[in-house]
Amino acid sequence: MVKICCIGAGYVGGPTMAVIALKCPSIEVAVVDISVPRITAWNSDQLPIYEPGLDEVVKQCRGKNLFFSTDVEKHVREADIVFVSVNTPTKTRGLGAGKAADLTYWESAARMIADVSVSDKIVVEKSTVPVRTAEAIEKILTHNSKGIKFQILSNPEFLAEGTAIEDLYQPDRVLIGGRETPDGFKAVKALKDVYAHWVPEERILTTNLWSAELTKLAANAFLAQRISSVNAMSALCEATGANVSEVSYAVGKDSRIGPKFLNSSVGFGGSCFQKDILNLVYICECNGLPEVAEYWKQVIKINDYQKTRFVNRIVSSMFNTVSNKKIAVLGFAFKKDTGDTRETPAIDVCKGLLGDKARISIYDPQVTEEQIQRDLTMNKFDWDHPLHLQPMSPTTVKQVSVAWDAYAATKDAHGICLLTEWDEFKTLDFERIFENMQKPAFVFDGRNVVDAEKLRKIGFIVYSIGKPLDQWLKDMPALA
Ligand code: NAD
Ligand code: UDX
Repeated sequence: MVKICCIGAGYVGGPTMAVIALKCPSIEVAVVDISVPRITAWNSDQLPIYEPGLDEVVKQCRGKNLFFSTDVEKHVREADIVFVSVNTPTKTRGLGAGKAADLTYWESAARMIADVSVSDKIVVEKSTVPVRTAEAIEKILTHNSKGIKFQILSNPEFLAEGTAIEDLYQPDRVLIGGRETPDGFKAVKALKDVYAHWVPEERILTTNLWSAELTKLAANAFLAQRISSVNAMSALCEATGANVSEVSYAVGKDSRIGPKFLNSSVGFGGSCFQKDILNLVYICECNGLPEVAEYWKQVIKINDYQKTRFVNRIVSSMFNTVSNKKIAVLGFAFKKDTGDTRETPAIDVCKGLLGDKARISIYDPQVTEEQIQRDLTMNKFDWDHPLHLQPMSPTTVKQVSVAWDAYAATKDAHGICLLTEWDEFKTLDFERIFENMQKPAFVFDGRNVVDAEKLRKIGFIVYSIGKPLDQWLKDMPALA
């Protein structure tokens, strides 16, 4: 029986290994982590992450050929294939702070693999890493090994949160990069055989190591670039009376462009896009390519601009002040169908409103009060000025409350901000909400989820990103 061990039981390691276990009953899969609470949760009925369809997959395999454990060394020692799926956040201190990937967790995992191994292994980079990381990992592994052979593969993950299980069942492609040597080809074939249990062969792409590592950064940069492009257009639409939904629909009809990833929003969030583009920017700078670095940096700058523009629009529409006004924030996660709040635009929007002394009441169906308080009190990491972190003052924190549903959040509010496109927000009883709000009642739709015309008929003043503006909003232009 082939044994797989995955170091890192997070948003990627957990679902990916669960699907491998489901699709490959002949393979034993152990997912290990240094975090005791995370592993305890994976072994309970309350999994540590919310992901549609995940519970069923875990229930089917756990205890049969899928195991979650904190005994990292034992499972690594016994494995034939070791996936490394640890976090690779942006460095916040030292050389490259604000842009470079922090490989501390990766390096410590690699050193541990070298220390505990007693047999040959294939080590798979599942985490997103800078191009040529495999070279450094090889050095760590071979330097410490006692005649043990390690083959390093790059197998980046392309799943998106909220659709992880679907994405893993039917990936557009699986990418495997390896050394172009006989042992390298053999290792690539071994990993390919795992995926071939359910992924059609033509969807399993093999490349050299550096292409696989760089493809992951490139794919995320291209995806984020589409969102910043449509968001940049949304500002121009508001200024000219064009409608961004009509523009993006018509643009996406061009088969060379395609319809996906053209939804204008308050900005992209999530743990990957900003981090991976900053990493790409840093790599370009280190390789003497400042023009290329600047090009990709603009994708992040437009994203920051979009969030600032949204906050400015709210404040200017409400007579240039939200001081002591109650603003209901509906949705805090970075997208629907996840409880993940990493880099969610809601953090910046809430902090912007709190900066103008608003009182905010937040409701999200999957994010806990504890998580929201942690996100809003944590030092905001500023990629552009990493050394000047501003702590949140305790008085500001008192301005935040968390509600149990959308009706409680909006009661007596002056305005509503929709920041996550949860399906339940589309079917809210807005007549009831309007009745219970202060007047004039505002809706600022950061995801274009509500029917603005219907809400206007009820009496709301509605701002929808990139859509023609109400007379009220035209009379009070936002300055970005
Ligand atoms: P995560 O923070 O959810 O999980 C990482 C886990 O690794 C944590 O539970 C942590 O405790 C554990 N860990 C860290 N060091 C360890 C060590 N030395 N030994 C054992 N466990 C250790 O992160 P994630 O979202 O799963 O992302 C993992 C990687 O995958 C990142 O590089 C990320 O860029 C990439 N990725 C993420 C996504 C996504 O949607 N989240 C998608 C594709 C790729
Ligand atoms: C992303 C990549 O899609 C995935 O391939 C990679 O493996 C990890 O990073 P994820 O961050 O989980 O996945 O979600 P994604 O669906 O890409 O959304 C990212 C952000 O962009 C969200 O905040 C989402 O709301 C926003 N978005 C997405 C838009 O604003 N408009 C769009 O058209 C699409």
